[in-house]
Amino acid sequence: MIKSDHITWQTSQVSKQERQQLAGHQSAVLWFTGLSGSGKSTIANAVEKALYDQGVGSYVLDGDNMRFGLNKNLGFSAADRTENIRRIGEVAKLFVDAGTLTLTAFISPYRADRDQVRALLADREFIEVFVDTPLAVCEQRDVKQLYAKARRGEITGFTGIDAPYEVPNNPEITIDTSAQPLEVSVNQVLVYLQNHGYLG
Ligand code: PPS
Repeated sequence: MIKSDHITWQTSQVSKQERQQLAGHQSAVLWFTGLSGSGKSTIANAVEKALYDQGVGSYVLDGDNMRFGLNKNLGFSAADRTENIRRIGEVAKLFVDAGTLTLTAFISPYRADRDQVRALLADREFIEVFVDTPLAVCEQRDVKQLYAKARRGEITGFTGIDAPYEVPNNPEITIDTSAQPLEVSVNQVLVYLQNHGYLG
């Protein structure tokens, strides 16, 4: 890792607290984690829309989308996934500093990587949302036909098949999309934000 000694962190004239006041709500990261096809992106996008309808701005950083741009040089080895999550964590931290309620939807299969992002942020700024949809359900959905390819050996290192997923130990929110409709999952997140004073 290369880092010059000749760089200085620039402080802003507007604080994070002032940006939050202007926005009228707290900034934080709702970090959705779970298997491929578990429903992370679907719930995150629906929460963004519900917040928008209430007049609360937020922004979704999505796994596939980030891999088209910022992280297009990364694959799915353990080291690349760790680097993927490290970069997303840094981006999410900037969004939080900008006063934004940020939603991220990445498998983020390694507990240590998620904990690293939690450690980057202040207390209350990292809300881990475990989308705990059983593998059998994700595999049955197989929206992108990736599980079928993984079972046939056409993709190797696929999460849940031949690559690990480490479940969160103490997530702030747990959602099982196989047990409830989307609106209930969305509401679970909204109620958490409301009850914990994030929405102003
Ligand atoms: S990670 O593990 O957090 O770095 O992965 P992420 O950036 O979220 O990317 C997951 C999406 O990439 C597709 N894909 C794979 N997933 C898991 N394992 C392998 N080997 C793989 N190859 C491609 C897959 O479509 C994931 O999308 P989601 O939205 O999670 O279904």
